[in-house]
Formats: sequence, C-alpha cells, structure tokens
Amino acid sequence: MKSKPSFLGLLQYSAIAGGVIVVAILAGPTRAHKDPVTPAQLKVYQEVFMEEVRKGDLLFHGDTATAEAMGVADDLSKTGMACAMCHPMASDTHPQSFPKFQAQMAKFATLRDMINWCIEKPNQGVKIDPESDAMKALEAYITWSNGGSVLQPGKF
Ligand code: HEC
Repeated sequence: MKSKPSFLGLLQYSAIAGGVIVVAILAGPTRAHKDPVTPAQLKVYQEVFMEEVRKGDLLFHGDTATAEAMGVADDLSKTGMACAMCHPMASDTHPQSFPKFQAQMAKFATLRDMINWCIEKPNQGVKIDPESDAMKALEAYITWSNGGSVLQPGKF
C-alpha cells in the first residue's frame, strides 16, 4: 500500500519547487541586462553620450557649421536667436518635468514637442523630425545640463 505524502513532505516539496521557480525567474530574462559592462565598454558608451552632448551644445548655441552638418541649418531659427540666448546653460528648459501638460501648447507634451515649440514660436523656424540626430543631440545637451535634477514628471 502506498503511503500518503505527509504534510511536511508536501511543504518541503513546494518549497523546493518554489525555490526553483524563483531561481529560474532571477536567472532568466533579467540576465541579458546584467552582463557586466567592462570599463573599456563603459568608456565607449560615455564617449558616445558626450559626443551627442557636444553636438547638442553647439546646436543650442547657434553654431551654423554643426546645424548645416546635421541638416537643420534652415530650420532651427529664423530670428538669428540661438536657444542659449533665452536659456543660458539650458536654464528653464526643465527636462525633468516632462512629459506634462504644457500650457503654451495646451496639450500633453514631451520634451521633444517642447523643443519643436520653441523652434516654431520664439525662433520662428521649422519643426525638426523628433527622431532626427539633431533632436537627439539637443535632448542630450538639455538633459545633461540639468543632470542631478530630481525627476518631477507632470510638474507644471
Ligand atoms: C526668444 C527666446 C527663446 C528662444 C530663442 C528659445 N526659447 Fe525655449 N522657451 C522660451 C519661452 C518663453 C519658454 C516658455 C517658458 C515656460 O515654460 O513658461 C520656453 C520653454 C522651453 C522649454 C520648456 C520649458 C518648460 O518647462 O516647459 C524647452 C525645453 C525649451 N524652451 C527649449 C528651447 C530650445 C531647444 C531652443 C532652441 C531651439 C529654445 N528653447 C529657444 C523662450 C525661448
């Protein structure tokens, strides 16, 4: 006659099964993101980021050569005003507050929407492609300049 599994035995079994599942979850899909980054790789990643920041810095300060090289020379400003003239050191750009309801646009907006708003309104320029290299560089410069700010999405 087979003996019934004891309560304690079942408990032990489920603890082991549970443990296996937990280990599988921890070791599974997350592992792809946990591959250690070597110092050499980290240096490359940071250089890529800082290169974008530098390009954005130049665009933000109205550097014509950079704007031409990035294909946005005719778009960014028609007034001769560079972003930095109204936003020295990227002040008052508040990247940490996006996305949020933006009063000037009367809509829920991203930082990229707002960059384009400033290109169209104060700069009287032409909106740039939100996916363009120029937009990414401007975003990199603005966020880098505001590094250390506390994220306050939605803050008006
Ligand atoms: C003539 C002045 C002027 C220029 C030049 C200008 N801006 Fe602005 N910018 C403003 C004003 C005014 C606001 C609205 C401030 C507010 O939020 O009340 C603003 C807001 C912003 C904001 C959002 C701030 C917030 O919290 O909502 C961003 C981002 C921004 N500008 C980026 C840029 C970029 C990038 C450029 C260059 C392409 C630029 N601005 C050029 C005047 C200017």
